[in-house]
Amino acid sequence: MSKTFNRYTVTAALPYANGPKHIGHLAGAYIPSDVYVRYLRLCGKDVIFVCGSDEHGTAIPNQALKENTSSQAIVDKYDALIRDCFVKLGMSFDIYHRTTEPIHHQTSQEIFLNIYNKGLLTEETSEQYYDEEAKLFLADRYIVGTCPKCAHTNAYGDQCEKCGSTLSPRELINPRSTVSGKTPVLKLTKHWYLPLENYEPWLREWILKSHQDDWKPNVYGQCKSWIEAGLQPRAMTRDLDWGIKVPLPDADGKVLYVWFDAPIGYISATRALFDELQSGNIKFATPRRDFTGAKKDDWKKYWQAEDTRLIHFIGKDNIVFHCIIFPVMLHATGEYILPDNVPANEFMNLEGDKMSTSRGWSIEMHEYLQDFPDKPDVLRYALLTNLPEAKDSEFTWKDFQAKNNNELVAIFGNFVNRAVVLTQKYFDNKVPVQGLLTDLDKKALDDLKAAPAKIAASIETFRFREATANLMDLARVGNKYLAETEPWKLAKTDLARVGTILNVSLQIAATLSVVAEPFLPFTSRKLKDMLGVGELTWQQSGGNNLVKEDAPLTYAPLLFEKIEDVVIEAQIKKLMDTKNAMELANQPVTPAKAEVSFDDFSKMDIRIGIILKAERVDKSKKLLKLQVDTGIDTRTVMSGIAEHFTPEELIGKQVTLLVNLAPRKIMGVESQGMILMASDKDGSLKLLNPSGEVAAGSQVS
Ligand code: MF3
Ligand code: ZN
Repeated sequence: MSKTFNRYTVTAALPYANGPKHIGHLAGAYIPSDVYVRYLRLCGKDVIFVCGSDEHGTAIPNQALKENTSSQAIVDKYDALIRDCFVKLGMSFDIYHRTTEPIHHQTSQEIFLNIYNKGLLTEETSEQYYDEEAKLFLADRYIVGTCPKCAHTNAYGDQCEKCGSTLSPRELINPRSTVSGKTPVLKLTKHWYLPLENYEPWLREWILKSHQDDWKPNVYGQCKSWIEAGLQPRAMTRDLDWGIKVPLPDADGKVLYVWFDAPIGYISATRALFDELQSGNIKFATPRRDFTGAKKDDWKKYWQAEDTRLIHFIGKDNIVFHCIIFPVMLHATGEYILPDNVPANEFMNLEGDKMSTSRGWSIEMHEYLQDFPDKPDVLRYALLTNLPEAKDSEFTWKDFQAKNNNELVAIFGNFVNRAVVLTQKYFDNKVPVQGLLTDLDKKALDDLKAAPAKIAASIETFRFREATANLMDLARVGNKYLAETEPWKLAKTDLARVGTILNVSLQIAATLSVVAEPFLPFTSRKLKDMLGVGELTWQQSGGNNLVKEDAPLTYAPLLFEKIEDVVIEAQIKKLMDTKNAMELANQPVTPAKAEVSFDDFSKMDIRIGIILKAERVDKSKKLLKLQVDTGIDTRTVMSGIAEHFTPEELIGKQVTLLVNLAPRKIMGVESQGMILMASDKDGSLKLLNPSGEVAAGSQVS
């Protein structure tokens, strides 16, 4: 039943350009997609790999509000940051585009009109939440409230990030505006809807029937429960001033819903790729293979030809959009192919808790790269061995260290290093003659020959963890082979035998350099240069003559180096510190108290006084006994500030105090007033003193 495909379009979710992205995003969509595409290229397949920044939606103006800048400045800043990290991590997109580009606006409007003109969108006026203070309709991330499904108190208007449910603002319990914090009111507004319910029979056929066996259970299961819960019409437009204008005459102030335009970004990125290839005016593209002769219109092949295999790599929170809404849109146009697979991953947690940039519990890509600039492959490897393919997984710094030290250094690096160093030492850095093979050598060569197909089978079924394990197993074959043959002990007695062992080892290393490329592209590059093997295809790997007898090796430094405990401890400390700092910053300001009359206020007699004496109180950690010159008199005030001030630093300070507070006994001493303090979020206290010296007894009003 399986179709024959002649080309591949592979996409990775367009990240929101509203902030830095973390390693959980890398584990979800990016690293797996890159492994997949690099593998396809090595197999000589006709493939394009597209991605870009998702620059619309309420997430952008919302962030602009937080950073006190414009939406444009936000997308410019984070597009540049994310783009740069992807390059440094070896993401091999053919193009990394932006949804604010004109060609994307044009493509999105065309597709909207295509569906609209077929009469497939419904127009509806309904009541929606409106922020009267900010004068804004509140959709998606402009509104938060309690999730009706899991009771998470900070669910967005479009989605609960805790349980993954798709929501609409009206379902939120206790909705509040993220712009003003106010409770919104309802107001009428008109929008265009995609009636998903009309596509139920078609979706049942296409997903539930045809993809039961080839889609991952987590993906299939989510689609099934969506379809079975009953599909609803979904608004494809928003009242917003940031986004793609709705291309209709009566749509002032309306833009396309971000989940309408963003996936179209894959298509516009493809158009941009072929525009750039043909014109030679390269702006966003980084073509990774030979596209000679490519024409402007070739983008159509990758999106409209039935023999193209479309694959979306995403994280689990994107499943309904890629499996239901976008396919319905594409189907409605009648012109586009559908995804053949959507190998979505679950989430990767961090040291026992959900990863979250806003809570400070994450490892941001750019921070990792700052701290480990020469180790992109180590991160790729640590993530790959721990991908959340079937269920949520967990990243820990200790595991990262172990994967580096015990596998990359101790197995892969150690094997390659021994083979190369011994060749240098005994054979003047030239590949020795293979000569006569023993059973042990033949066994190693058999394992070598079988390895690429084994790795490929795992990649082709989207089992990247297993594929990575299979890769390391090949390095293990090499390591074990050297341990068993012990060539270093034979140099004095049987140099020809040493030559055979090293030749076989170098053949294994050569195949490693090819099959490691999808996983560890930087390491692969170094290893190929070291062995002088050039660009080999996947099909050539596993061979017994990849490095030729007598060919020179090039000296290269170690492929991997040990990561010490102190480095790991510093990372764990940094994580804790960031989390604590964020917790403080995110603490809400205490809500306002009820209104009081001026009369009530003026009953209080507040004065500036001077502290004359300060002493600790026996048996109390908190109390200080103060003598204060109030201008009216000198009186005793007991104040619970001993943990914040030493008596010495208080003497002579001007303070603000309430002098007509009813006296009360504290630890047996009568306190005759109250010193006023400002208490900060972290619980620290500051005295309130006038900005210039004033006489004791001055009134505060
Ligand atoms: N920006 C979305 C997110 O980060 C993903 C968009 S994927 C696309 O969750 F299909 F819309 F492009
Ligand atoms: Zn929820």
